[in-house]
Amino acid sequence: MIRIAPSILTWDYTDIGRTLRVIEKSGIDILHLDVMDGHFVPNISFGPAVVESIRNKTDLTLDVHLMIEKPENFINDFKNAGADIITVHVEAANKLSRAIEMIKKKGLKAGVSLNPGTGLNSVKDHLSEVDMVLLMTVNPGFGKQKFMKSVIPKIRELKEIISKKSLNADIEVDGGINLLNAPMVVQAGANILVVGNYIYSARNISKAIESLKKAIKN
Ligand code: DX5
Ligand code: ZN
Repeated sequence: MIRIAPSILTWDYTDIGRTLRVIEKSGIDILHLDVMDGHFVPNISFGPAVVESIRNKTDLTLDVHLMIEKPENFINDFKNAGADIITVHVEAANKLSRAIEMIKKKGLKAGVSLNPGTGLNSVKDHLSEVDMVLLMTVNPGFGKQKFMKSVIPKIRELKEIISKKSLNADIEVDGGINLLNAPMVVQAGANILVVGNYIYSARNISKAIESLKKAIKN
């Protein structure tokens, strides 16, 4: 089952309640929360307080993407804020295994994320430990960027490795996903698509989600 995970990075922060209802009514079951610290990425977004306010408003799975330095130091805060999945960047974690273990010990699902320029070798030994691998299809930091087609072979290679080892980690892609490239990333092996700008720039969010669902079904 292919899942669409709306990112909240570029949504209308003054209209959270209504947007959440629209997303829930579109049959979405997961929300992607892009946490940025201005150090690991050149942008600042939000922290645990925003995650907690969203937690109190929805039952959607909260998929927290930590684009921060020393993510190990904040796992507890985001767990207490209501995260269901916490993803750390392989480029930021001090000891990746330890960060993954900390997340799982809290009873959460653990994800590891790679920037477009980071090779799969950096996570190959951790694939049996994680529930999800998040492959960035833009350089992290901002929404509304252009999808990087060069990441597609990496999605394919990761899918092959996961299938060969009969692992069941999800493959999530994040960055510049739209109607045109969504079928390509699904065909390459991704099963969770993070989408921001494509749905929020549309006149009607639910119609945009519907068209995306149709595009990946074919
Ligand atoms: C980048 C962010 C974005 C965002 C998706 O660091 O992770 O990729 O979630 O934004 P769009 O869909 O607007 O590229
Ligand atoms: Zn993200």
